[in-house]
Amino acid sequence: MAILLGLPKFEAHFRADCLVGFVRGQFVTLQEIDARYRVSTGLPKFEAHFRADYLGVFVLENIREAPLEILSGLPKFEAHFRADCLVGFVLENRREAPLAILSGLPKFEAHFRADCLGVFIRGRFVTLQEIDARYRVSTGLPDARYPIIPDTYHFYAPRHLLPLQSMQQVSLDLLQKYNVPIPRYTSYPTVPYWDETIDVSTWKSLFTQRFDESREISLYLHLPFCESLCTFCGCNKRITTNHTVEETYMLALLKEWEIYRAMMPHNPVIRELHLGGGTPTFFSPGNLKYLIEHILADSDVPTEHEFGFEGHPNNTTREHLQTLFDLGFNRVSFGMQDSNPEVQKVINRIQPHANVVQVVQWAREIGYESVNLDLVYGLPLQTLPRLEKTIQDALEIKPDRIAFYSYAHVPWTSKAQRLFDENDLPSADEKMQLYQVGKKRFMVAGYTDIGMDHFALPGDLMVQAHEAGNLHRNFMGYTVQQTGMLVGLGVSSISDIYYGFAQNKKTIQEYYEQINRGELAVFKGYFLDEVDQKMRHYILDVACRGKAHFAKEDLELLRQYTFHELDELALDDLVTWGEHGLIVTDLGKHFIRNICKAFDLKLLSAEVQKKTFSQAV
Ligand SMILES: C[S@@+](CC[C@H](N)C(=O)[O-])C[C@H]1O[C@@H](n2cnc3c(N)ncnc32)[C@H](O)[C@@H]1O
Ligand code: SF4
Repeated sequence: MAILLGLPKFEAHFRADCLVGFVRGQFVTLQEIDARYRVSTGLPKFEAHFRADYLGVFVLENIREAPLEILSGLPKFEAHFRADCLVGFVLENRREAPLAILSGLPKFEAHFRADCLGVFIRGRFVTLQEIDARYRVSTGLPDARYPIIPDTYHFYAPRHLLPLQSMQQVSLDLLQKYNVPIPRYTSYPTVPYWDETIDVSTWKSLFTQRFDESREISLYLHLPFCESLCTFCGCNKRITTNHTVEETYMLALLKEWEIYRAMMPHNPVIRELHLGGGTPTFFSPGNLKYLIEHILADSDVPTEHEFGFEGHPNNTTREHLQTLFDLGFNRVSFGMQDSNPEVQKVINRIQPHANVVQVVQWAREIGYESVNLDLVYGLPLQTLPRLEKTIQDALEIKPDRIAFYSYAHVPWTSKAQRLFDENDLPSADEKMQLYQVGKKRFMVAGYTDIGMDHFALPGDLMVQAHEAGNLHRNFMGYTVQQTGMLVGLGVSSISDIYYGFAQNKKTIQEYYEQINRGELAVFKGYFLDEVDQKMRHYILDVACRGKAHFAKEDLELLRQYTFHELDELALDDLVTWGEHGLIVTDLGKHFIRNICKAFDLKLLSAEVQKKTFSQAV
């Protein structure tokens, strides 16, 4: 979008890769402008308000909190609308470049909302979606429909104008180029670089050191049981219909917690608690209550906390939701995956959509602050129309958050994925198209792209944290809380104590054996050195804030590994960068993992070694 305001000291300028403004002679990109930064443009009664995802202005006499209003009114302005971009030319200063400039017509008013971009034309609100690519909008004069009427308002053919990236489809070439296996960077260094054994005494002493620094923790409990096997699933789970396993497992979790508790000289402050799986709602509400009450018994829970769990729509009861809510849970995530019956059949997950509607309705009635739905694209037998219907079903529920996961096909570890025919999987191109269409639907419906497959409505804390630059990322994905460490309990869980990571035994049997001996169940992990810590910092900055500032003392290292990667990314308009730091462009948001990789020294140095090795041979 481009909005042009005819103010003497302000000029907005749009390019394919960024949205920028000249404010009092200074060139600023929107990415550089902090979420809350308000730029005075020189006139007493005007202020512009910028956020990464939109550009808006408030006329002071008419301030509104709504996601934005633009009033303009210059006599010599022409606006040009296409489905994917909005641009304007000032007639005296016409340029062919992709520019958006000053407006301000007495009879013209552009109006922006989070979910759509539209204009008021003679009192009628027209969304950009409604405006066909070739539609020419007259902005005020009766005969202004065709170019070129000197000194009146008209519209240009769009071919010289580059669309804004946020509204743009990413080219297939680019998607293909960057569609290579890349970690999700829920940790750095990533799991393949961890040591196969871990020195437990070092782990314990670093744990104590970290706890001394901050007793605020995030807690993850892995509850691995499911009653029935979804063939697409890549999670660590155990399929059983025998519910006596609940008690044995719960007791092991509590024992593990006791071992960690003995290493904490004070009560921990549990700011974040997440029950994942498997299927946490496999456990009865009574057992979950017992488990959580015991965990929280000697812990402090601040008023502002995030407690969430993953519920299966087929077995979550109102009692589950009420019980956990009463224990302080305020967010819930349901696995919707895909609502098409053919897809559900092939992934062995028959789940009537009415079940999803029902559990979400209960959650809302009970008072949960945020409801997330998991959707997966790239599943067998999924087609564009089927996915569109799934998305439509999901959007009708209006979840606060949507996780739109790319189906991970890993049949060597998740053997059930061999149960369906690989020929039924969408091709790489089709999968990309599924993602593109999904993302577009979410954006049009008003969701913000948080990054790495996560979308949320503007009122959700996740979006607020994203805008304020406070988003964080750990093994549970994006989070709004930043605590000193993440303690993972249960089979295969991962803990992150800042100075190191450790993973628990991956089979229930081995997990029980270790815990029943009174030992922690950690078996592999990694202790970060200073360079690892720096690179992790950069990766988190890119993933959570879309920008990074380079410390002078790191430049030598960055020059060696990172800068030529950034050069390549910049050629494709995914980042703008210099020795001071980098900014992810709107286009780059589609490729966050690829950008993070530029700081993955483990991977990059391994690639260099591999190259050297092959060359030597
Ligand atoms: C633990 S499950 C959610 C809770 C519950 N078990 C359920 O299925 O509703 C976690 C989520 O991981 C996602 N998931 C599982 N296997 C996946 C795969 N192979 N690729 C991508 N996402 C996957 C699904 O969206 C699933 O909802
Ligand atoms: S998708 Fe959920 S219910 Fe299905 S097997 Fe995986 S963890 Fe269990």
